[in-house]
Amino acid sequence: MEYRFVVVANRLPVDRADDGGWTRSPGGLVSALEPIARNSGGAWVGWTGAVGDETAPFDHDGVYLRPVPLSPEDVDRYYEGASNSTIWPLFHDAVEQPVHKRDWRRSYDAVNRRFAEATAEVAAEGATVWIHDYQLMLVPALLRAARPDLRIGFFLHIPFPPVELFMQLPGRGDLLRGLLGADLVGFQRPLAAENFLQLAARLTGLHPDGETVAYEGRTVTARAFPISIDVAGSERMTSDPAVLRERERLQEDLGGDRRILLGVDRLDYTKGIEQRIEAYGELLAEGALAADEVVLIQLATPSRMRVAQYQQLRERVEREVGRINGEFGDVGRVPVHYLFQSRSPEELQALYLSADVMVVTPLRDGMNLVAKEYVAARQDEGGALVLSEFTGAAAELPDAFLVNPYDVDDLKRGITAALRATPSDLRDRMRRMRTHLREHDVDRWARSFLDALGGIKLDPPCPQ
Ligand code: ADP
Ligand code: G6P
Repeated sequence: MEYRFVVVANRLPVDRADDGGWTRSPGGLVSALEPIARNSGGAWVGWTGAVGDETAPFDHDGVYLRPVPLSPEDVDRYYEGASNSTIWPLFHDAVEQPVHKRDWRRSYDAVNRRFAEATAEVAAEGATVWIHDYQLMLVPALLRAARPDLRIGFFLHIPFPPVELFMQLPGRGDLLRGLLGADLVGFQRPLAAENFLQLAARLTGLHPDGETVAYEGRTVTARAFPISIDVAGSERMTSDPAVLRERERLQEDLGGDRRILLGVDRLDYTKGIEQRIEAYGELLAEGALAADEVVLIQLATPSRMRVAQYQQLRERVEREVGRINGEFGDVGRVPVHYLFQSRSPEELQALYLSADVMVVTPLRDGMNLVAKEYVAARQDEGGALVLSEFTGAAAELPDAFLVNPYDVDDLKRGITAALRATPSDLRDRMRRMRTHLREHDVDRWARSFLDALGGIKLDPPCPQ
C-alpha cells in the first residue's frame, strides 16, 4: 500500500496495553497529531510501545498504522538511552545531566535507518512525509537519500537548545545534517528556529538568509509553528454526560467547598512537579493555606520508568507527598491527592472543570498542552491558570499567572494570587486566553505547517 501523506513518529497513536488491547499513547505529540491524522486518510509509521512487539500493519480510525518493532536492545539503547537519557535532558536546558554512550548512538542511527526504510515503503511517489520529534532527527536525510521525490517536513515538539549546549553532543554534525534533509524544519518557538540556523552556520559554514538556508542544491526553511489542541473537540466533551457525572462524583468525594489546585503531567523531571509540591507545602506550613480549605490533586502519568532519573524523581515526589500529608493531613482529609496513573480524556476533562487553579510549572517545556487543554475546557470562563514562563505556552497565554518555577517564593506568589483574584479578573483573563486558543487550534497548526511545506492539502475537519 502507498500513501500520499505519511506521519512518522517514534510512537503510533495507540499503545499496546498489558492485556494485549490498545490504549491511546501517552504525551502531547499524540494528543495533538491524532485528530489530524484521523482526518487525513494517510499512514502513520511508529512503534507500538511494547518491547519486541511484531504486530503487522493495520488500519485504525481510518489511518494505516505501520509498526516499527523495537527489540529489548533497541528500547534500552535507542529509546531509553540516546533519545531519553542524552537528547531529552540536553534539549531541556540539561536540567538533569545528559548521559553519552557510543553504543546508544549506534543504536539511534540503526533505528532511525529502519524508520526511514519503513517510511520509504509506504510513501507514494511525490508523497508528503511529516517526521516528528527528537527520537528521529536522522530520518529526514536518510529518507531523502532513498526517496528524493518526497516532500519532507520535520517538526520538533521539544525546545531546540542554544548552540553552546548542542555543541556538547557527540554526533552533533550528523544530527544537524539529518535535520537539514527536510525541506521545512518546524519548531515551537522562533528562538528555537534561530538557534537551529545559528547552529547550521557554526557547524557547517552555511549562510542562513532570514529563515532559509541553501543546502546541497535545495532550500531548507526553519520556522516556528506553535502546536495546539483540538479546541472544538474539547468543547464538545465539556457537555458529555460522562464528564458531568465524573465531575459530580469528584465534588462528592472531595466533600464540599475545598478549593482545588490541580497538576496533570507525565511524571517527568522537566515538569517542575517537585517545585510545585514544595511551594504548596510551604504555603501550608506558613498557614497561608489551610488543609481544610484547599486540596492539591496531582495526576502523574507513569513515564519512561526504566530510566534511573525517572525512578529517582518518583521516589522524591512520593516521599514529599507523604511528608506533607503526614504533617498537615487528618483522618479523611489529606492535603495532596497524588495519583500515579493515566486517566481517560473524560476524567481529565472533569478534573479541569473542577479545578479552581491549574498549576503548570515546568522548568522547561516546548509547549505544554495541558495548559491549553485547561483553558479550552473552561467554557464557563471560570478557573485560573498558573503557568511557568519557561513553557512555549507562556508566550501565547500572557493572561495566565506567570511564574518562575526555580523561585519557590515566586511560585507561592503565583498560586496565592490566583486563589485571591476576583471572579471578574479571572473571567477577563480566561476570556482572552480562550479567544486566542479558538483562533489557534491544532487544525490551524497542521495546515500552516503543511501549507508552508507546499505539499498535501488537508480536507476540512470532519464534524463529529
Ligand atoms: P508532554 O508531551 O511532555 O507529555 P504536554 O503537556 O504537551 O506534555 O502533553 C501531555 C498530554 O498528555 C496532554 O494531552 C495530557 O492531557 C495528557 N496527560 C498528561 N497526564 C495525563 C494523565 N495522568 N492521564 C491521561 N492523560 C494525561
Ligand atoms: C513528549 C515527546 C513525545 C513523546 C511523549 C511521551 O510529548 O515530545 O515525543 O512521545 O513525550 O513520551 P514517551 O517516551 O512515552 O513516548
